[in-house]
Amino acid sequence: MGFLLQTFPERAAVWAQVFAEAGEPLYCGADQVIDPADIRYLACWTPPADLGIYPNLELVISVGAGVDQMPTMPEGVRLCRTLSPGIDEMVRDWVVMATLMLYRDMPTYLSQATSGHWKAHDVPLARNGRVGIMGMGRIGRLVAKTLGGLGFNVAGFSRSGTAVEGVRIFGVDALEPFLHESDVLICLLPLTDETRGLLNAELFSKMPKGAHLVHAGRGAQLDMADLRSALDSGRLGSAMLDVTNPEPLPEDHWAWTDPRVIVSPHVAASTDHREGAEHALAVLRSSRAGAALPGLVDTTVGY
Ligand code: GLV
Repeated sequence: MGFLLQTFPERAAVWAQVFAEAGEPLYCGADQVIDPADIRYLACWTPPADLGIYPNLELVISVGAGVDQMPTMPEGVRLCRTLSPGIDEMVRDWVVMATLMLYRDMPTYLSQATSGHWKAHDVPLARNGRVGIMGMGRIGRLVAKTLGGLGFNVAGFSRSGTAVEGVRIFGVDALEPFLHESDVLICLLPLTDETRGLLNAELFSKMPKGAHLVHAGRGAQLDMADLRSALDSGRLGSAMLDVTNPEPLPEDHWAWTDPRVIVSPHVAASTDHREGAEHALAVLRSSRAGAALPGLVDTTVGY
């Protein structure tokens, strides 16, 4: 029942330690594997091009929260994403920072700072602000709780429409009213066929004039040309992007230097090595016990 981890040396060293402490063998790197038929579990960000080299593979674990980088799994191979409190907290922190920065006009003040220009603008109250969160999974709920605690009026948009305390939930049929009330729109959606290209001119046109976009979902959800037009027309006031389209963002891309846009290079979260290894152990044990797998991906919906 071999478990193979394919990753960079710093992460491999921590996983090796966590697995050793748990008394579980771990192959760190394909070069350690003598018999590929022994491999039942594979943890990686992207797998080898041909997963068929491991004929007895049962399960692949993405070492990150997302799985859109993964190919279609071979018949009978299950896919899990990493669930880790650290990922949730890191993304929450980035999103809360971005929401406050945009809501409190920091792009304008950063731009004024480049010419030493001292000029105050209206100061908005958080409790007068309406925040709309697209994607109400673990991270969305944590963001909602934190921003709600700061006084923002929080709404959530989710496919399932599951109720969340203190949050007005809008289901898939209610995207338009949800957007009408989003002074700050936060995208935390996974990349699927339904969400690819979703953040486009049509969607921006439904938002309040001068609204802000906080994007920590996936770059391919955003039409960057439409974003620029929405900023130029005043439909959107500003945007903070941790994910871009394309990614990495080319050196000469307009978004780097546009004063209305702040870009960070996909750093909202990075899986803590120990938490990732502990999650993998939990998956391994659940699998052996025939129990529900934490982070199991429903391949019919793509997350
Ligand atoms: C990062 O984006 C991840 O999926 O962990």
